[in-house]
Amino acid sequence: MKKVIKGGKVVDPSRGICGIMDVYICNGIVKAVDKNIEVEDAEIINAYGKIVTPGLIDMHVHLREPGFEAKEDIESGSRAAAAGGYTSVACMPNTNPVIDNKTVVRFIKDRAREVHKVNIYAIGAITKGLKGEELAEMADMRAAGAVAFSDDGKPVMNSGLMRRALEYAAMFDVPIISHSEDTNLSADGVINEGRVSAVLGLKGIPAAAEEVMVARDVILSEMTGSRLHIAHVSTKRSVEIIRRAKERGVKVTAEAAPHHFTLTEDSVMSFDTNTKVNPPLRSAEDVEAVKQGLKDGTIDAIATDHAPHTYEDKDTEYDNAAFGISGIETAVPLVITYLINTGVLTLSQAVEKLTINPAKILGINKGSLKPGSDADITIIDLDAKTVVDVNKFESRGKNSPFNRWKLKGSPFMTIVGGRVVWQKEGC
Ligand code: DOR
Ligand code: ZN
Repeated sequence: MKKVIKGGKVVDPSRGICGIMDVYICNGIVKAVDKNIEVEDAEIINAYGKIVTPGLIDMHVHLREPGFEAKEDIESGSRAAAAGGYTSVACMPNTNPVIDNKTVVRFIKDRAREVHKVNIYAIGAITKGLKGEELAEMADMRAAGAVAFSDDGKPVMNSGLMRRALEYAAMFDVPIISHSEDTNLSADGVINEGRVSAVLGLKGIPAAAEEVMVARDVILSEMTGSRLHIAHVSTKRSVEIIRRAKERGVKVTAEAAPHHFTLTEDSVMSFDTNTKVNPPLRSAEDVEAVKQGLKDGTIDAIATDHAPHTYEDKDTEYDNAAFGISGIETAVPLVITYLINTGVLTLSQAVEKLTINPAKILGINKGSLKPGSDADITIIDLDAKTVVDVNKFESRGKNSPFNRWKLKGSPFMTIVGGRVVWQKEGC
């Protein structure tokens, strides 16, 4: 099976490529990226006027299977990923049962193989049952294919346990992904602690709840020499702590989610429970700092924290609604509209944070179009007009605060291992 993607602007930061080129795919593998490739009998994919990038990688999604299939399952989550332009995702372990042993890791891999749409990598739990009490079977999970460990959704409050988790993870050279939240500070808060929480009378989560844990985990990473990745960075001081740690040579990386560089706490004034997310939407100053962190490289990756929920989970008082945003199908237009078109990131920088950087953090052989790579490719239309419509989401989670928003740009085609797994309607 031969395909040539013709005439697009290829943006492959892993090789410093940014120019009009063709991509030749044969048997699911990238054979060549060059000007004017002519191959006999090849199917032609017309990418004129479009951007051609290595397949996007979302290193932070919740696929909810096993256990919470009413919110999402591996099938619907895979379709949502493909429709969002993603060819690979890494799923968090807060399922039921929790991904805290090799059997559940294998289950995820088996289901991903059956669904056969996008590449799915499992992130194992740090602690058994996400209880924060004793370490999960990390070595077994690693051997079964887990690419990182995290108790995401919850912090590991016990610093001694976090230290040991970092030490073990270093033995397999995988990162610990920190959901940085001191639950004694966040307590039963539901939105950012600040002006809006005061006006609305909703209980606040202070920025410090995140920052003290970012600082702690940076210190533990520095002490152990182990790789630490900070999930969903949302505050100015978190960015600053990570920036300084990187300057000292600490092995820390970080990600930001689209809602944290596009929305402020002001969105909560609507009382729309789709704005309820953990960590919460922060102040305008925090949003600016997250953008600066993305710009100067302090924040390495853009990850959606795709957190689908049912209508019922959100159709309740703000205090009782579930935390989370269904984000994988709006990430590309949000990045284009808020980061690229505003000059915060160049196209190459944005693509880097969506491809090669998350691949490096997870230690997976993805995120590049170098010849010999799996033909995982995303074609993006920077000029498309997008009107977000949650009813058109492939995800079961319709919980998006961006519904009806008008944005610029959209994915155009998603190719996994040389197979077209999604293309925009009308193409
Ligand atoms: O908003 C969130 N939703 N934050 C988390 O940390 C967990 C996630 C979920 O699983 O719904
Ligand atoms: Zn998460």
